[in-house]
Amino acid sequence: MNPLKHVAIIMDGNGRWGLKNKNSRNAGHKEGLKTVEKIIKETIKNKIKFLTLYAFSTENWKRPKKEINFLFNLLENFLKEKIEDLNNKKIKLKIIGKKNFSSRLTSLLNSSERITSKNKRLQINLALNYGAKTELINAFKELKRNKEIINEKNLKKYLQTKDIPDPDLLIRTGNTKRLSNFLLWQIAYSEIFFEKKLWPDFNERDYYKVIKKYKNIKRNFGNI
Ligand code: IPE
Ligand code: IPE
Ligand code: MG
Repeated sequence: MNPLKHVAIIMDGNGRWGLKNKNSRNAGHKEGLKTVEKIIKETIKNKIKFLTLYAFSTENWKRPKKEINFLFNLLENFLKEKIEDLNNKKIKLKIIGKKNFSSRLTSLLNSSERITSKNKRLQINLALNYGAKTELINAFKELKRNKEIINEKNLKKYLQTKDIPDPDLLIRTGNTKRLSNFLLWQIAYSEIFFEKKLWPDFNERDYYKVIKKYKNIKRNFGNI
């Protein structure tokens, strides 16, 4: 059985769910938060140490301002309400992506990271204003600035996931088979599952089924 340390998820399909069920994309974003909570619980139950959630990409700024504002308000309220609970559950929160938000949100993100920084049960990386291309370009710039040799070990030092193992498992919900600029370096050998369900319909049982399938895959890493 394959060990499972790190799961990464592209939480896609909120907008479509909202339009279909409540005639509003934003209602789908709100509903999607319930799935986030279910998946966190199940991740802990399965003793997985790292969970990386793609919440907002560098390309998502192209969306209408009203939707963007709704999303960040949702995040702000979620953190205000739940950070204590996350902390009690011994969850460490880390933001990956560039924190160039309003000063209010940035300081809330910083304090959420600070409060939970010593926790060891599960680390949640929340990818916010994250894009793999930007991450890689920044890493190469750092290598150049420090006049370091370009190799895997040195490059990894400048990735935002530098301290953690690469994802073993990548899940994308929402019935779309693409990576949308998520963790391009780190998923070189991840097992990838594209799920038909929209994110708000995805639940802990669906997640557990994927975990079970993953555990029985023969992972080769180039070997036979
Ligand atoms: C994913 O759901 C969540 C974010 C990008 C914030 P979408 O909003 O992309 O939902 P669809 O793909 O339009 O249904
Ligand atoms: C990917 O979903 C980003 C997140 C889930 C945050 P998108 O809905 O933005 O992806 P594309 O644009 O359809 O590729
Ligand atoms: Mg989408």
